[in-house]
Amino acid sequence: MKRILTIIGARPQIIKSAAISRAIRTAFPDQLKEDILHTGQHYDEKMSAVFFDELQIPQPDFNLNVGSGSHGAQTAKMLEGIEEVLLNGNYDGLLVYGDTNSTLAGAIAAVKLHIPVIHVEAGLRSFNKAMPEEVNRITCDHASSLLFSPTTTGVDNLLNEGFKTDNPAPYHADNPGVFHCGDVMYDNSRFFGELADEKVDAKWHSLKDEAFILATIHRPYNTDDTDRLLAIFDDLRWLCDDTQMKLVLPLHPRTKNILQAKRPEQFQAFADHPKVELIEPVSFLEMTFLEKHSRLIVTDSGGVQKEAYFFQKPSVVIRTETEWVELIAHGSARLSFETGEAMRQAFRAALETELNDFPPYFGDGKASEFICQTILDSLK
Ligand code: UD1
Ligand code: UDP
Repeated sequence: MKRILTIIGARPQIIKSAAISRAIRTAFPDQLKEDILHTGQHYDEKMSAVFFDELQIPQPDFNLNVGSGSHGAQTAKMLEGIEEVLLNGNYDGLLVYGDTNSTLAGAIAAVKLHIPVIHVEAGLRSFNKAMPEEVNRITCDHASSLLFSPTTTGVDNLLNEGFKTDNPAPYHADNPGVFHCGDVMYDNSRFFGELADEKVDAKWHSLKDEAFILATIHRPYNTDDTDRLLAIFDDLRWLCDDTQMKLVLPLHPRTKNILQAKRPEQFQAFADHPKVELIEPVSFLEMTFLEKHSRLIVTDSGGVQKEAYFFQKPSVVIRTETEWVELIAHGSARLSFETGEAMRQAFRAALETELNDFPPYFGDGKASEFICQTILDSLK
């Protein structure tokens, strides 16, 4: 039996962890034992607790309750707490997802204790180090022993940084194993996409019959400058007026807190628009339902832009670049950053895009099984 410590903390990691936990439960129950450590980076009920029962994620064995804070303070608290758990446990590896501060803290704590780091979602690059995520992912990849990349682009990025795909096992931090495995998020969307319509509350069902736009906004470069954030909201409001479609916007607490503190009146005016449904963050099954039935998705989220592709929806990604370059090359997603006429044109063009073929850039829905089997085969 191999024992791993899985680190979760931010919403997307909690969701991703459902896929691997499910694979362990169904295919490797006697070979792989997972303890879960929640750093507490996200803590609101709707950013964390809501996902556990719904996605059948085991309750965390440890919760550090670090809460919000500056990057340094938040990461430092996590690092200290994770180190303590690792010193008291006897783990064969530490598994981290993605690129958040929780990912970074897990990777640094483990590599310093010579515990192999397993990075799920390795190799992604935006080539923009102003994004905290880019710093986190590069640091984590270079501390890892097993690197699982969801896309061939991710593997190519790692090769360009000096990684090799033909290192012989056993793998360790100086001889890492790089694997192309598909995306655990695609595993989840396939699995839960089937269940969403049946499981979500009936109050959502009327949305099936109307064309609506789904949006999420939370990146610092879209939220921290409130003038910019309000300009994005203006463009979304224009889109509602122009198309007469409803806008459903589950608001990330970062975005809500900033607007409530700095521009409460404009925030209220936006919320009062008859076509705007500004709602609390929703559960994953609800989000999946909304994605499946939307007409267009507007987002700056890494995960939501991919889910748009999984459900074959056009999307506008409010960023200057993305690590998911396949989506842009495919044409179903388009980048748009400048507000005003440029963004409105991007919305129009996205609505007019003809979408046909959706190649399987993100695997076959079995990335999690591959990851578990490789961990078992590769860790000493
Ligand atoms: C973090 C990740 C980002 C990821 C996002 C997913 C980092 C550096 N960023 O960004 O990569 O895309 O999570 O959602 O790790 N807040 C609450 N309640 C919560 C959580 C946050 O009110 O449960 C508010 C607090 O005001 C907090 C702010 O949101 O200061 C930002 O939270 P934080 O976790 O620091 O960063 P995110 O923007 O959520
Ligand atoms: N998500 C959700 N409820 C919401 C908004 C998003 O369940 O109200 C899910 C979404 O389906 C995706 C993940 O959260 O699986 C994306 O997380 P987020 O946008 O917070 O972070 P990112 O992917 O940008 O790191």
